[in-house]
Amino acid sequence: MGPSVCRCWFRCIQLCVRLLYKWICCTFYPLCDWDVCHTHDKWRINRWITRKNFGRCPGTNRCLIQFCSGKRVQKEKCGMKKDFLLRVQQLSLGFENHPNQDTISNVSFELDKGETLLLLGPSGCGKSTLTFCLNGLYPRELDGTMTGNIFINGERSTAYKPGELSRQVGVVFQDPETQFCMLTVEDEIAFGLENINLPRHLMEAKIDDALSQVNMVSYKESDIASLSGGQKQKLALACALALEPDLLILDEPTANLDPVATKDLITTIQQLKRQKEFALIVIEHQLDGWMDLCDRSLLLNKSGEVFYDGSLRKGIEEILPELNGQGIWLPRITQYVLQQSAHWNGFLPLTMDEFTDLAGQQPSVKWGYEPPIEKRNSDVLLEAINLSWKKKNQQVIRNISLKLYDGEFVAIVGANGSGKTSLTRILAGIQKPSAGTAYLNGKALEHWKEIYLRDKIGYVFQNPEHQFIMNTVFDEVAFSLRLRGLDNKGINEKVTSIIKDCGLEGLENEHPYTLSQGQKRRLSVATMIVDNQRILILDEPTFGQDAHSTKALMDLLEERNKQGTSIVMITHDMEIVHHYADRVIVINQGNVSADCHPSELWTVKPAVLKNWQLALPIQVQLQHCYEREANYVSTSS
Ligand SMILES: Nc1ncnc2c1ncn2[C@@H]1O[C@H](COP(=O)(O)OP(=O)(O)OP(=O)(O)O)[C@@H](O)[C@H]1O
Ligand SMILES: [Mg+2]
Repeated sequence: MGPSVCRCWFRCIQLCVRLLYKWICCTFYPLCDWDVCHTHDKWRINRWITRKNFGRCPGTNRCLIQFCSGKRVQKEKCGMKKDFLLRVQQLSLGFENHPNQDTISNVSFELDKGETLLLLGPSGCGKSTLTFCLNGLYPRELDGTMTGNIFINGERSTAYKPGELSRQVGVVFQDPETQFCMLTVEDEIAFGLENINLPRHLMEAKIDDALSQVNMVSYKESDIASLSGGQKQKLALACALALEPDLLILDEPTANLDPVATKDLITTIQQLKRQKEFALIVIEHQLDGWMDLCDRSLLLNKSGEVFYDGSLRKGIEEILPELNGQGIWLPRITQYVLQQSAHWNGFLPLTMDEFTDLAGQQPSVKWGYEPPIEKRNSDVLLEAINLSWKKKNQQVIRNISLKLYDGEFVAIVGANGSGKTSLTRILAGIQKPSAGTAYLNGKALEHWKEIYLRDKIGYVFQNPEHQFIMNTVFDEVAFSLRLRGLDNKGINEKVTSIIKDCGLEGLENEHPYTLSQGQKRRLSVATMIVDNQRILILDEPTFGQDAHSTKALMDLLEERNKQGTSIVMITHDMEIVHHYADRVIVINQGNVSADCHPSELWTVKPAVLKNWQLALPIQVQLQHCYEREANYVSTSS
């Protein structure tokens, strides 16, 4: 027998063995999935030849049916991706109280090392729940069922011990206060390091390093309670960074921050991404600022299913109606351009820089802004004279005097920690001032009986949980109506209508504490809107809301305002100030720094606005951009 015949026989036998092997795999491991093996192709080829483990992929523990010829499969050649940092496969999760309905439904996606993903979806669609799955809190602490797989660095997430997983996945929760368990900044970071058994002698340097990454070294010995909202966000970030995770998840990190603190935080994260390699998942409603940082977007719909995975720009170009239908915010500039030129088919700007770069080819945007009518000629409802308030040794409110007129829509703006909440709490009679007096209808607040005062002034707290006292959403909204002795039919009608307006249908029987952050916020507004107070004071009512719920909430407030209710609203959202308020009060270090019509505020010098931690609304930014161009044309021609 010549060598060529030998080779031929050898090939035949080899082929038969392969076919037999493939048949065995197909028959005995029907769960095989070619795609599953893409992740682990390197392992597959090596082990396949040695035939260990019956050709099962170590990550997925599934059979590897697709037999390669034994040659090493090139990643580039097959378009395969391997060594994903995170791989989520057909993840579904349902809570016990909703046995027939999954909150997260069949979610699959992967994340590469160092990649940045923007996770978007309407309020209540399961974004934070997904976070809890990724950091291992679920299924460990879940009252419900979870199916599907999560692999982190090739290991099943459930195979990690809790401490081990937090070294791989760091999370900054939506409400950072819920994750603090120590009193001081230093102790809080040390707590996480102790949990991973970091030797004592390395700890000091690690804490300093984490704090310097977020520019907070000088706060090392501070009490956490004394930090502003933005500083707490940064501390939560430092705690996560100290563990050097491969994956960092930020759940609405800027929802409570003023515009300048928001910009600072995004810049900090941008710098960190340049210095270290870690993958990032950002959950946000407000996209401005994140566009340069994010490679990809994953969009969830109201049912917790993925409906798009890819570049956001492409998504906006291809499936804009779906994005709008789900109430997903677009970057403000994009939104504005699309509003003004619905059929715009040129390059779609996602940032102000991209818009400016269009140089002369910008779509025509109309300045259709009509300033609201000022209502200062009406009666004075609430008057504050020389109000001051001290907390421990810190002067929070400094000698503030102001008048609130009947039917006004007032926005209170200013930096995190400038005293906005303290001022409104005094105006609502919830906090007694250290000096000065506030008068409602000419009578000092301290002389009002609590029950009558609450009838006149409604107050929506910054932290919605502070005002929940009942066990179901329905009872929470119905509480004050029952107190007023309304009959059951009237209560049912009114509560049902408010619950619908606030986008809380289907949640009537839920416990308020199990709602998503956005839902909690809407419930806190619903409990106040249901009454007919003369004055409504709201502390950041729209934070953490998707486009639909923001519009619905603002429409409700506008409607109440038209019916004569005076609205006082603390907000960091300059678009809301621009479009709804007829007066804006700027609080800076406990003082009133400006009290004027919003259109006047936008004419203040940029350096001064920055000092007050404010930004211009997009419409005004655009106007400036056009004026600059017009000026350039007129001076250069
Ligand atoms: N522990 C729980 N028990 C029961 N239901 C829950 C629980 N946690 C969350 N839910 C429900 O699951 C849904 C998703 O909540 P989740 O907090 O994940 O939403 P989200 O997308 O983060 O919303 P938001 O943008 O408002 O923060 C909500 O309807 C909420 O009521
Ligand atoms: Mg959430």
